[in-house]
Amino acid sequence: MVSSLSTQEIEILSQKANAAKEAAYCPYSKFRVGAALLTESGEYFTGANVENASYPVGTCAERVAFGTAVVAGHRKFKAIAVATDITPPASPCGMCRQFMSEFTSRSFPIYMYDKDMNSTVITMGELLPNSFGPEDFNH
Ligand code: THU
Repeated sequence: MVSSLSTQEIEILSQKANAAKEAAYCPYSKFRVGAALLTESGEYFTGANVENASYPVGTCAERVAFGTAVVAGHRKFKAIAVATDITPPASPCGMCRQFMSEFTSRSFPIYMYDKDMNSTVITMGELLPNSFGPEDFNH
């Protein structure tokens, strides 16, 4: 089940994710990714992938967006949009799925946009079933 978002919120998320691609630093892959994240309180945070000459050190757009929002004090989120230049839309990598699951419920929607802004949507629960999360951490 996908949580309900207004048409306007989805439109803003898609535009911000698409615009965030411009900020990508991806000289190695040349694969631009933009992300836009909507907080429960109605604020938007964006991110883009930031690569590194030491390849594994690079960071994905989704984690930049979440990290920026989290350090700004946010802990609850309504949706994220991810935009790339390919078709069909790219879906978040495994590391990002785990990262996002820390702060989201199973119904959290991930909107994915291709180069022409065609979209698909999937929930966190579908992207990462049987996940290990904060509720499992009892130390
Ligand atoms: N990338 C993202 O930013 N998000 C994803 O969900 C998939 C991959 C980035 C990482 C790297 O900079 C480039 O795309 C190619 O893998």
